[in-house]
Amino acid sequence: MTVPGAAATDAFGRRFRYLRLSVTEVCNFRCTYCLPNGFQKAGSMDFLSTDEIGRLVCAFSGLGIGKVRLTGGEPTVRKDIGGLIARVAAQPGIDKVALTTNGWNLSRHIDNWVASGLTHLNVSVDALERETFRKITGHDRLEDVLAGLERAQTLPLKAVKINAVLLRDALNTDFSAWTEFVRYRPIAIRFIELMRTGDNRAFFEDQHVSGQILGRWLEERNWTPRPRGRDDGPAIEYCHPGHAGRIGIIAPYAPGFCNGCNRLRVTARGQLRLCLFGQGGRDLRDLLASDEQRSALQQRVADALAFKPASHALHAADPGDIMNLAQTGG
Ligand code: 5AD
Ligand code: SF4
Repeated sequence: MTVPGAAATDAFGRRFRYLRLSVTEVCNFRCTYCLPNGFQKAGSMDFLSTDEIGRLVCAFSGLGIGKVRLTGGEPTVRKDIGGLIARVAAQPGIDKVALTTNGWNLSRHIDNWVASGLTHLNVSVDALERETFRKITGHDRLEDVLAGLERAQTLPLKAVKINAVLLRDALNTDFSAWTEFVRYRPIAIRFIELMRTGDNRAFFEDQHVSGQILGRWLEERNWTPRPRGRDDGPAIEYCHPGHAGRIGIIAPYAPGFCNGCNRLRVTARGQLRLCLFGQGGRDLRDLLASDEQRSALQQRVADALAFKPASHALHAADPGDIMNLAQTGG
């Protein structure tokens, strides 16, 4: 049952249709900006079960959420990820089921995931050169990841995108490898400005570059920003007449970035986080044990939303209490 008029909105009139749901904190990669020493076990590994996720998504769909992205950690280290995708896709009102993955097992499973109801796929690829990829992620898997991506592009997904973190080193080397990559491939690559977290301070200071620098680099080469639609995500996308693909820039440090925030986050332990870079979360897990608690869960989410802050405080060099993005899924 939908609570009448219970669309998820906050005190600033922002409406939330998009839920990012972390399904595990575990990751098998060691990206330099995220988990340079690899994933370290913290507390019990007691992440939300398929049943809990089903109930959670069912309640959020009643609040107007239509898109759910499964993130991590690395969501596909969960052996039951196929079943999770199917469970989320089966909830009424959910028409977009997205997955963010580092791609390590993509080529083996993507057919199955799409058959289970996956509609949108984001694959993280931080370098197109084998050795650079290995250095950034700790794994010599670039070829596998690209093979999975290629397979994904043959399947009936509504969107397949690449995420890459914008690093100073990449801009200082041959950035045109990226524009060449999208010359014939109709794919969007989104460069995410490196974000400061509790753990990556020194790395951030060494490697952070503003998305504007990439924007200028692109404009000098005849790439033009596309006009933005109301429901567009946070990326500014550039196109070029000679290229099939697009290059996007996600710049969380840019002024006004949070004005169009359309997303909520739930951690793998069932905490609602109002902002990626906020403090603490609101526990939802005690209301996920049975279907009867759906309205109570919706009420708790609606109450919490009234306290969603207008903006993050990254500008004040305050990344909140987040130590790395593997904790909440980015
Ligand atoms: N800054 C920017 N992006 C990050 N990601 C992980 N940590 C950071 C960070 N500190 C990205 C990953 C992946 C997505 C899940 O989040 O590269 O593309
Ligand atoms: Fe793992 Fe993603 Fe963090 Fe890389 S960025 S270590 S793939 S969680």
